[in-house]
Amino acid sequence: MSEKTFGGKVAIVTGAGQGIGFEIAKQLSLQGASVMLNDLDNALTYEAAAEIVRLGGSCKGFPGDAGNITFIQKMVATAVEEFGGIHIVIANAGITLFGDFFTYTPEALQKVFQLNISGSFFLAQTAAIQMRKQGSGGSVLVMSSVTGQQAHRHLAAYAMTKAALQMLAKNLVIELSPYGITINAIAPGATLTERTISTDPGYEATWSELTPLGKPAKTTDIAHAALFLVSPLSHHITGQTLVVDGGWTSVSPSPGEKHFQEVESGK
Ligand SMILES: NC(=O)c1ccc[n+]([C@@H]2O[C@H](COP(=O)([O-])OP(=O)(O)OC[C@H]3O[C@@H](n4cnc5c(N)ncnc54)[C@H](O)[C@@H]3O)[C@@H](O)[C@H]2O)c1
Repeated sequence: MSEKTFGGKVAIVTGAGQGIGFEIAKQLSLQGASVMLNDLDNALTYEAAAEIVRLGGSCKGFPGDAGNITFIQKMVATAVEEFGGIHIVIANAGITLFGDFFTYTPEALQKVFQLNISGSFFLAQTAAIQMRKQGSGGSVLVMSSVTGQQAHRHLAAYAMTKAALQMLAKNLVIELSPYGITINAIAPGATLTERTISTDPGYEATWSELTPLGKPAKTTDIAHAALFLVSPLSHHITGQTLVVDGGWTSVSPSPGEKHFQEVESGK
């Protein structure tokens, strides 16, 4: 991929004021796309967009709630008005509300579902309506998680939404393929972001120990996978979930080294 890979393309990335979304928006823009950058936080949105422009990209901040359908429709319409169309959408915004299953509240469940599921679903729908009208295909990417495949304590609600997004990508192949629109998901494993580092100072050390490749992902690792899945290089890939986790989902807890030494020596 080069500076020109996304030349002439218009992209929307939600939840991109920081973390994974910001890195995706930055890389897309520095490789030629005009990017509409969304975040719930006003200041963060404009600062992030300004930073990308400062680096030489084309980027416009559009703050608001990526879980609100009316807002989503306005965001897509504005991207079309200002940039002339829409070719790539990345439903990256997602929230994690940890909680004991036995005391998890309807309000918390609703909040997680609203952004993670409804927000992603209606961004895909609104963008696909526009892409269908344009008649030249497009790419939709939704941000799942390894928790959509593996159980994690206190994450039942979040995990359900992330599994749902993998199925959304698979299911929409039927309705989007006739229009040349691809849809895929990324399932990141533990990733170093402002949020994960600030909520757990031991995050990097813990996940370095648990991850077969010996370290958690950086936002650039997830962004590289994202850019591939919305680039022409992946035009025949759709309905898939790409796991980017340093090997974490490939292993299950296994007996310690002593056990294998005993088995091998026949003790
Ligand atoms: N960081 C990880 O380890 C990890 C692992 C697996 C999956 N993910 C997923 O990747 C995505 C990005 O993760 P992250 O850690 O970079 O995100 P994050 O938690 O750092 O949030 C990124 C931005 O989203 C914004 N946001 C929150 N609610 C919003 C809303 N309603 N509308 C618009 N923006 C909103 C926040 O203001 C924040 O700036 C999420 O969907 C997350 O579930 C992250």
